[in-house]
Formats: sequence, structure tokens, C-alpha cells
Amino acid sequence: MRLLQVDGINVSYGRAMVLHDISMHLNQGEIVFVVGRNGAGKTTLLKTLMGLLKPWKGSILYDGEKTLGIGPVNLARKGLHYVAQDKKVFSNLSVKDNIALAAYSNSVSLPEAIKNVTSIYPKLNDFMENKAGGLSGGQRELLLIGRALVGQPKLLLIDEPTEGLAAIVIRDIFKILVHMKTENISAIIVEQNLSIVNQLADRIYVMREGHIIKEIYNSGQTEDSNELESYL
Ligand SMILES: Nc1ncnc2c1ncn2[C@@H]1O[C@H](COP(=O)(O)OP(=O)(O)OP(=O)(O)O)[C@@H](O)[C@H]1O
Ligand SMILES: [Mg+2]
Repeated sequence: MRLLQVDGINVSYGRAMVLHDISMHLNQGEIVFVVGRNGAGKTTLLKTLMGLLKPWKGSILYDGEKTLGIGPVNLARKGLHYVAQDKKVFSNLSVKDNIALAAYSNSVSLPEAIKNVTSIYPKLNDFMENKAGGLSGGQRELLLIGRALVGQPKLLLIDEPTEGLAAIVIRDIFKILVHMKTENISAIIVEQNLSIVNQLADRIYVMREGHIIKEIYNSGQTEDSNELESYL
């Protein structure tokens, strides 16, 4: 089933056009990666999908419905969730209260939300009462992805989950993404780590200067990043 269908969207910041005629799609259960150099427009694309930016041309259909004018809050209610690039948590709140907020906004009980998050990232149990502001970059990202999973999203958008993280934490992020794949959770993930992309992607869109220049069907047979690298 087609969960997302994007046709010919153009997006600009003021007069600066950033996305040019982007068309893409995602089928239920797919994990699709978006790759591209810095400034290619990857974050702008995810923000547009989440309803945070409005395309001035083209259309986005999510779960069979046009998203223009629906807005991020209502899209979230319809199961579309977004983990932003900036890894912002509620710093002054405990890890538990960060999860409690997600539980509340998704109408899930706190024990259930904690169970959901810690089942995919058990180490978070050790930090439950700590202030989220004191977590390392990797722990924050894991909390953010865990939080986004509380509401059992239909489609999760994740912007550069491993950016700036040490190899050991990248392994934890990788495990969560594998877990999502086995649970058949649909996701669009922006990622620079091509080894992760090659291991997990069903399909890959390559962006350059606001365009999608290539769509790659990933065989999953190889960790060879050469083909992908040649487009970056
Ligand atoms: N708020 C903004 N106002 C004006 N221009 C912006 C704004 N945000 C991004 N841009 C510009 O839009 C283009 C695409 O930016 P975007 O952040 O989407 O790229 P990206 O592919 O996510 O890059 P990175 O890999 O660095 O995260 C860049 O030229 C950037 O300078
Ligand atoms: Mg970005």
C-alpha cells in the first residue's frame, strides 16, 4: 500500500528556492533513506513532509489524504512523527518525564510508554530519573527515537540519527533501526553513514542541490557503498 506520495513539490525560504520538483513515494513497511551532501535540501524535505513548511507547488498525499493545510500537530495525530536533526529534548525534565509527555500526547499510559521505549533501548532504564539535558548526544537521539515510537507511528521521519556520534553509540542506533525494520515500521531516514544506509534501505533517494537525482533499489546483498558514493 502506498503510504506517502509526493508529486512535484517546490519549496522555498523567502525567495530562495530550495526544493525543485521533488517526487517520491513510500510504501507501507518500507525504510527509505535520503542521502546527499550538506545543503542538498534533505532537512527541508523532511520538514515539508511533516507539514512544517508549505510547498508552493505540487502535492503530498499521506495515508490517502492531501496534507496541505493539515499542519504538524494533526499529522502527528494521524501517525506521522518526526525526529529532528537538532536532537532537542526537554533538558530540564527527567528522561521519564520526557517519555511521559510523549505518552500524554499519544494517549498511551506512562507504564506502557516506558515499556515500549525500554524494550527497544533497555539501557534507558539506568537514566530514567536523570535530567534529559545531561544525556550524551547518542543517549538523546535514542530517547528521541524511543519517544517517537511511543505512539506506534505509521510513518517515522528521522533526520541524521547518527550525526556526530561515536561508533559505539551508532551501533545502538543501528539496533533500533533494525528493530523498526523487523517490526515493519515505515520510515524515511536522512543519513550520511552509507554503511547503515546500505544495510537497512529498501530504497534510497539521492539529493543534490534541491533535486532528487537518483532513486536506487537496494538489493541488501552488499555493504559496498561505491555505487551510492559515486552520486554524492
Ligand atoms: N531557514 C532557512 N532560511 C533560508 N535558507 C535556508 C533555511 N534552512 C535551510 N536553508 C538553505 O536551504 C538549503 C537546504 O538546506 P537543508 O538544511 O535542507 O539541507 P540539508 O541537506 O539538510 O543539509 P545538512 O546535510 O547540512 O543537514 C541550504 O542552501 C540552506 O542554506
Ligand atoms: Mg539537514
